[in-house]
Amino acid sequence: MDSRDFDPRRFEVIEHPLVQHKLSILRDKDTGTKQFRELVTELAVFEGYEAMRDFPLEDVEVDTPLERTTCKRIAGKKVAIIPILRAGLGMVDGILTLTPSARVGHVGMYRDPVTHEPHQYYCKFPPDIDKRTCLVVDPMLATGGSLTAAIKFLRDAGVKDIRCLTLVSAPEGVKAVLDFDPEVRLFTCALDRQLNESAYILPGLGDAGDRIYGTK
Ligand code: PRP
Ligand code: URA
Repeated sequence: MDSRDFDPRRFEVIEHPLVQHKLSILRDKDTGTKQFRELVTELAVFEGYEAMRDFPLEDVEVDTPLERTTCKRIAGKKVAIIPILRAGLGMVDGILTLTPSARVGHVGMYRDPVTHEPHQYYCKFPPDIDKRTCLVVDPMLATGGSLTAAIKFLRDAGVKDIRCLTLVSAPEGVKAVLDFDPEVRLFTCALDRQLNESAYILPGLGDAGDRIYGTK
């Protein structure tokens, strides 16, 4: 399976050479916690940049030191970043460098190690979430259970524009997410081969949460 098996209007792999270079370092088992964390932040910046590429612009008058001119600014797009805890937290600062006034909502979820089903332990969104473009961030998309659950919380809260940003995705998870919600858009830095019997992504990068926080 490759990215051509999915609708290009809804699924995009960020092929930029800098992204692919940084992702290779991220995958390396010898990359330590500090560098891993920094790379997750940097990759989130690149990915956020792509995910906001179609934000609408409006004209604005600006006085330069020489004359008045018409420039562009983003037309009233309000953004919320929704990290799926824990690993998604690692991507928040990168997106915030692009949209410093974004609100941040949190969905707390962990996968049961045996069934691989997601279990929710926390959910808190800004009060005007339904009026915001939501960027759901999580480095790993494996079975898709965690991300589809987060999408459901956001749809139930009335959110219309949902864009999901992952770093590494399994084909099984991409299919699950795009089938679950016909409107959602998904950005990733890599579409990997498959899941193993423990629902880990192959080749993947291991457990993203543990590598970000140094818990293994
Ligand atoms: C990981 C990852 C995703 C989820 C992906 O989190 O960060 O949230 O697994 O798997 P799925 O697509 O099969 O649902 P994990 O449950 O390990 O929690 P953590 O972020 O606290 O480490
Ligand atoms: N969660 C991770 O952190 N890594 C995987 O490969 C799958 C789920």
